[in-house]
Amino acid sequence: MARRWVFVVVLVWGFLGLVGCGKNAPVAAGPQGIYDQHCAQCHAQAGQPGGPGIGGSRGPNLAKIGAEPGHTAEYLAAYIRDPKSAKPGAKLMPAFGDKLSEAQIKELAEWLAAKK
Ligand code: HEC
Repeated sequence: MARRWVFVVVLVWGFLGLVGCGKNAPVAAGPQGIYDQHCAQCHAQAGQPGGPGIGGSRGPNLAKIGAEPGHTAEYLAAYIRDPKSAKPGAKLMPAFGDKLSEAQIKELAEWLAAKK
């Protein structure tokens, strides 16, 4: 019986430790932080932090997205809010209008538009 309790305590403790680690992990501030949390899982390319080890990423590379014609901060903000209304062909990227604040979307859009 006693051994069972030790097992449970170790499990709970380990779980809390994991959760704690997640919170204390260094998260970049500003647009880079928003990107790391919400966008990198699809947009990071192989070799970049959060990118796939083998195979392709789900989203296109955004490293030079600001250099694409028409990709102003305004367009990018509209795209992040709701990809489908900004570009009819978009179908896989979720809308972030209800997940990020307007200030976060603007910050992110300006940061992306400056990537040339
Ligand atoms: C679930 C995967 C996924 C996530 C998460 C995601 N994207 Fe995308 N994104 C895509 C895909 C896939 C495309 C290509 C278009 C399509 O099919 O939706 C795309 C396209 C884009 C484009 C290209 C627009 C263009 O006109 O070339 C931009 C900019 C972009 N994403 C920004 C972001 C930002 C910023 C975030 C985080 C707030 C984000 N994405 C999160 C999958 C994702």
